[in-house]
Amino acid sequence: MAKTGPNVADAPTAMRTLGWGDYALLDSGAGRKLERYGPYTVVRPEPQCLWTPRLPVSAWEGADAVFEPTDEDEAGRWRFKGRPKESWPLAWGPAKFHGRFTNFRHLAFFPEQAANWAWLEGQVRRAVASGQVQPRVLNLFGYTGVASLVMAAAGAAVTHVDASKKAVAWARENAELAGLADRPIRWITEDARKYVQREVRRGSTYDGIILDPPKYGRGPGGEVWRLFDDLPELAALCGQLLSQNAAFLVLNAYAERISGAALSGLLAEVLKDRAGTIEWGELALVEEAGAKEGPRQVGMSFFARWSR
Ligand SMILES: C[S@@+](CC[C@H](N)C(=O)[O-])C[C@H]1O[C@@H](n2cnc3c(N)ncnc32)[C@H](O)[C@@H]1O
Repeated sequence: MAKTGPNVADAPTAMRTLGWGDYALLDSGAGRKLERYGPYTVVRPEPQCLWTPRLPVSAWEGADAVFEPTDEDEAGRWRFKGRPKESWPLAWGPAKFHGRFTNFRHLAFFPEQAANWAWLEGQVRRAVASGQVQPRVLNLFGYTGVASLVMAAAGAAVTHVDASKKAVAWARENAELAGLADRPIRWITEDARKYVQREVRRGSTYDGIILDPPKYGRGPGGEVWRLFDDLPELAALCGQLLSQNAAFLVLNAYAERISGAALSGLLAEVLKDRAGTIEWGELALVEEAGAKEGPRQVGMSFFARWSR
């Protein structure tokens, strides 16, 4: 029987993020990560770092900020040495954005997403080079918008959707900081599923879609989002939103118990009528310390992505 649908990779791909000017994973171990975000060094919990740190204790003790978790989830509080700024400018390629010490242990962006940003940038550039004028792309659960800025800078018309007013406000500030506020980016504060349902009813299409849903979330009207219950329907609706000449659809997820293989199975079902390729795997941060022993890497999230 002739095979139909996209070709799904047999083996996972590691999407590795190495440090860049404004970010480095300096060291890891004993359940923690030591990172640099621009001028600040930061210690955060990371239970999967089961190994021993390689840098001297003094490097860890000198950190500007340490996140102390108060429970198993993301909550906790920062302990600062000195008085760091509330926000400070960082950059990745054409995107500029603010680092901030949030109450949820992260710094208002996710550095391991740099591997996705580079891939998305390449996809948009290729679409533009192949004659698509301003490919239309959708960034669902877009948070502070770095992916939106990268795609806008590469020539896309971007729709950025997030449930949080504050996240969208920070994303707009980032666009200002990056000098990209005049680019065609629509900033939408809405429940991702409601937005997509409406777009399907309207017959809208997109040339590329990325979604990075949390395990659990709420829309602005209290709509409940549960990854394992709700992703299949949302992914199917996103499949319907892809234009005939669409270039990509990327699913990313951080939840424990998800995997790249699981996301690729869903994507293959949703896109069974298309040709193209599905790759899947893990996004990992590559540590800077201990080049002598070989760099270690910390797996952060899972992805599956379709491209034409
Ligand atoms: C894991 S973060 C996304 C990270 C983002 N892709 C990035 O790389 O910066 C999850 C985001 O989903 C948003 N969110 C949660 N529930 C939502 C919902 N029902 N609809 C839309 N956005 C939601 C949160 O406000 C948060 O900004």
